[in-house]
Amino acid sequence: MGTKGDAELFGELLARQKSGHALDRAFYCDGAIFRRDVDKVLSRHWLLAGHASRIPNPGDYFLFDLAAEQAIVVRAQDGAIRAHANVCRHRGSRVCTEPRGNAKVFICPYHAWAYNLDGTLRAARHAPEDFDRAAYGLKPIHVRVIEGLIFVSFADVPLGLARAETALRECLGPYEWSKARVAHSELYPIAGNWKLAVENYLECYHCAPAHPEYSRLHALEQPWAKIEALNAAMTARAASFGVHIPVHEHWAPSAEGEEAVFAFRYALYDGVLTAGPDGKAVAPLMGRMNDYDGGVTTIHFGPASFFIAYPDHGVLYRFIAKTVDTSALEVVWLVRGDAREGVDYDLEKLTWVWKVTSEADKRIIEWNQAGVNSRHYEPGPYMPMERNARRYAAWYLGEVT
Ligand code: FES
Ligand SMILES: [Fe+2]
Repeated sequence: MGTKGDAELFGELLARQKSGHALDRAFYCDGAIFRRDVDKVLSRHWLLAGHASRIPNPGDYFLFDLAAEQAIVVRAQDGAIRAHANVCRHRGSRVCTEPRGNAKVFICPYHAWAYNLDGTLRAARHAPEDFDRAAYGLKPIHVRVIEGLIFVSFADVPLGLARAETALRECLGPYEWSKARVAHSELYPIAGNWKLAVENYLECYHCAPAHPEYSRLHALEQPWAKIEALNAAMTARAASFGVHIPVHEHWAPSAEGEEAVFAFRYALYDGVLTAGPDGKAVAPLMGRMNDYDGGVTTIHFGPASFFIAYPDHGVLYRFIAKTVDTSALEVVWLVRGDAREGVDYDLEKLTWVWKVTSEADKRIIEWNQAGVNSRHYEPGPYMPMERNARRYAAWYLGEVT
């Protein structure tokens, strides 16, 4: 944004922003805004890092990035999942350089200081007698595990999770994601700003033209009266086997001190059991879902994490901000913990709908970025079917200010 003064230019930009309209091009193209996104939005909120089944044993770890920050997410000796800043307390090298693995101890590649799994400093070579090892543990990063989902916050004082935790427990509890395991994950690099990717996820206005496969299964397109009837049938079917999944709508600004969460349900078309190529079962039923209820539970969690629960599998959507005009999308498929590939489920059938959907999304997000880069881009109005994207954009403007 040049030298005029970031705050002043940012104020002008906000004043220009028309309510109910797509964001100004600076929000997708300006490096200074991207730094604000990282500092004020992504670093302030909780982010999904992955599923706990990725690191089942003590010493199992993976690295989790947010711009210049990197956390080592590790299962410690006591079985608890912890996160440490991957910055050596000696002179600042990365300590762990493999993206995932199993370690008994983390040894810095520079001068070989050694850290325990709980982050405490175990040894510093040739240190003086009076060197206080206890003062040089890896810095802790906030981490919480809820229903098997690992969340990380790089904030000094993280947002409260009371509302979000209630929503996740009540809405994902019936599927017992805490006992699930990762069947597959895919990473899609995207030549587009992370918010274009999130906005695209949040609206299904594009589903009919871009996602014929998805649109054959999920009832988001029909006249409202038909959707109401399908939703009512879904709720009644779930109730018949004792499952009640409430709506949780706490999409609030972080100034209120709590993480934003929005959980709701919607129906699949009549006769469609789950998100499989032909609508038929793709994996064993999960948790307390004793039958197919003809519905989907979906959760928006903070700025960049989204979850979709079908009776027989789950899908995690994690948006990763890289630079102002590059991002990535990680999609993770969950199945019941004891489900065996090739016996209880076919991986291709399990992953087909969201793979083909994510590949199409990557293309349309990249075309969107290319158009937004042009000086001919002028933010147009969100349509009624884009109400969640519209709400997200308004919420984002409050967060980034
Ligand atoms: S920077 Fe890590 S041991 Fe020196
Ligand atoms: Fe899409």
